Amino acid sequence: MCPTGIDELDELLNGGFPRGDIILVAGHPGAGKTTLSAKFIYEGAKRFKEPGVYLSFLEPKNDFYRFMRALGMDFEELERRGLVHYIEGIQTSTFEGIEDALKEFMDAIVKMNAKRVVMDSATAITQVAGFRLTRELIKNAMVNGLKPLGITGILISELPIGAPSVGYGVEEFLVDGVIILKSTIENGVLVRKMEIRKMRGTSIPYAELYFDIAPGVGIKVYLPPRMEEIPAPSEAQIYIPHAKEIRFLCGGYLRKGSQIAFIVREPASVLPLLIWWVLGYIARYGGTLLIRTYSKPPQLIRQAVKAHAKKFNVELSRIIIDSINPTAKPLYVMSQYNRESDTRINPTFLVFDSLQQVPMVHSNDWDDFFRQHLNNLLLRRKLGITSFYIYNVKSSEEIPIPLDIYDLIIKVRPEWRDSRLYLYLEPHPITVSGPVKPLYVQYKEGGEFQIEVVGGQ
Ligand SMILES: Nc1ncnc2c1ncn2[C@@H]1O[C@H](COP(=O)(O)OP(=O)(O)OP(=O)(O)O)[C@@H](O)[C@H]1O
Ligand SMILES: [Mg+2]
Repeated sequence: MCPTGIDELDELLNGGFPRGDIILVAGHPGAGKTTLSAKFIYEGAKRFKEPGVYLSFLEPKNDFYRFMRALGMDFEELERRGLVHYIEGIQTSTFEGIEDALKEFMDAIVKMNAKRVVMDSATAITQVAGFRLTRELIKNAMVNGLKPLGITGILISELPIGAPSVGYGVEEFLVDGVIILKSTIENGVLVRKMEIRKMRGTSIPYAELYFDIAPGVGIKVYLPPRMEEIPAPSEAQIYIPHAKEIRFLCGGYLRKGSQIAFIVREPASVLPLLIWWVLGYIARYGGTLLIRTYSKPPQLIRQAVKAHAKKFNVELSRIIIDSINPTAKPLYVMSQYNRESDTRINPTFLVFDSLQQVPMVHSNDWDDFFRQHLNNLLLRRKLGITSFYIYNVKSSEEIPIPLDIYDLIIKVRPEWRDSRLYLYLEPHPITVSGPVKPLYVQYKEGGEFQIEVVGGQ
């Protein structure tokens, strides 16, 4: 196998492209064809010490090196070490010119003992030579020329916007694998997708993948999480001594790794209460709290946390605040970010604040959100991260939350008694098996809460 150097893609392809194969990378203008191919050459040289040659009819070397440096690939350094060679065929407007460039290409391959090559692009050759001759040229260079040497190559081809993704030209019949890159705008953000159409000798479990082009990394592919089995809830208990009434909401006790949703009617707010519960626990037993908010600046949360941390004598370093603007990135990028961050930080408790913002800004199509959400939720259960998901709703709203993905759903509404505001917390009956009772919670001065069990203890 010939690793592409994009780790997620290599994992998916069982190690990379089959060695000696020619892969067609086709895509819309700006889709990332050059970046993907550059990464293949760059990582091959850098990590695997395999010399590579990049032939471009489209970009001057200086531009290419500059763009790629911004994406974390220093071609200059590798060129100095004799590991890469860039051939600039941009002035070529005649058939002879193309032949010359191809000859230079083959000479460089032999001279450097190259293991990887890229031709950018077949479309550029077609514009000069026409379809029939292009086919001959590519067949001679890429197939007859490279195959016997065991060289793995990428052939780039442009796909006009709006063109159907099949029938992209003459090249597909010459190649062993086909990858199509597409970019679309969804809900105002640029979404990049990669389709693996054909890959000789490899079974492809996921045909369509999201990816991103980002400074420093170049190209990042998002694999859907592979979770074959639903992890069971943990048997370990979480006992919160200063708020033992919480057991009335859980039908006995709170399990470690529980995934709990709070549906909160405005103007009730449950975040201060959760912080108070959790920090009281951490003060006694240790652990960490991650608060991920989709609506508040980090300073505001830090302020809310500070008073409790001081009172419980919890170091501020045990509380991590993650404030995310939900409109900035597509859903799958946020989802992947959360997975990576949860795995790395592995907090004892995780509180999501204003989670309703995420599906609301991304299409209002809750199905899409819950698909991603469910996978992440299962991962947290597996990691034993006790998680609270706060969804804020207006009094008339119903959120289409699937009841069976959470271990517990608690509805929270404001209630005034004697002109004082109380929170009324009531577990959703479907989500608990043991006997439960609602709670009245009142905020007291000095950051304390008074809890009253409805119907007595
Ligand atoms: N430093 C960067 N940070 C983030 N994105 C970048 C950066 N540089 C380029 N891009 C993105 O990468 C894309 C260009 O990628 P690339 O040149 O690989 O595409 P291409 O398919 O080869 O395009 P073309 O059809 O023009 O050859 C652009 O959409 C641009 O938005
Ligand atoms: Mg390009």
